Amino acid sequence: MNKYKTLTPGVKLYIGQDSEVSQRIYINRGILPATESIYHEDIKYLPNAFKPLPDWYEACTEDLDLLLTDSPDIPYSECVCLFKIPEKAIKIFRESGLSECNSHETVLERLKADKTRLQWLDKWLGEFATLLRHEGIEKGKARIHGFFSGRANVETVAYDSDKQYFGLHIDNSQGNTIYNTDKAPNRICINIGKEDRFLLFVNKTVRDIYNLLVEKNVIRANDKIPEGKLCRLFFENYPDYPVIKIRQKPYEAYMAPTDNLIHDGSTSGTMNPDVTVVLLGYFGILNVHNNGEIAGVTAL
Ligand SMILES: [Fe+2]
Repeated sequence: MNKYKTLTPGVKLYIGQDSEVSQRIYINRGILPATESIYHEDIKYLPNAFKPLPDWYEACTEDLDLLLTDSPDIPYSECVCLFKIPEKAIKIFRESGLSECNSHETVLERLKADKTRLQWLDKWLGEFATLLRHEGIEKGKARIHGFFSGRANVETVAYDSDKQYFGLHIDNSQGNTIYNTDKAPNRICINIGKEDRFLLFVNKTVRDIYNLLVEKNVIRANDKIPEGKLCRLFFENYPDYPVIKIRQKPYEAYMAPTDNLIHDGSTSGTMNPDVTVVLLGYFGILNVHNNGEIAGVTAL
């Protein structure tokens, strides 16, 4: 029985039919201010940053009932989806040696040195992105955002150009205001590293967060709040609202509306570089469901 503050309805998680996945969904008791990493002396956080409390427990039935959806026909801006990429792509990624690369530069060097494999990956990623693209959205051109390599064993992975860590945050990929984040692109992030990594998120859309803050008289309706301030106000006023953590195994991908929810990645407990490839676009959960077979995608 869950004795802590529980989840309330909000952003859903679609994982298909595999009950094994529900055993790698964790929940905690909220956040704490982040100034530095507990694992690395040189990692510093930006002012007003927050990270999840490390008191993770396995999600109970009540949490899962609230979080999981078995309906793929759900707006992409309100749902996170986890799925496995096709075997043919796994084989190419395995052979590429990219999982060994411990910096962005070495990833690029490795890709440049292996033109045939790079061309195959470029083509495949383009087709993959197109198949999973939401058909109803004209501007929904999907693109490869890039290959990334990050550090092992960090509590949260995202940092700015000065290598200062954001902590849990909301992306702003195209100059959104808080009124249109439900129309912003979402992303697919594929784990091509050797080890499991984690997706962290709060199951509330930007609109939900805004309404929670209005309810508590922290802000007034129609106040214009940048996404960074919205995130800080949420954590200051709801510090014990649970964060969700999902284990993402190698060659699994998550699809998430990262402009519309508080999130980050995590590599806590790992020893190898965190290597990922990221696609940006307007991807549909229904497309994973319907086109999964064509794309070779397996809903977990
Ligand atoms: Fe992000």
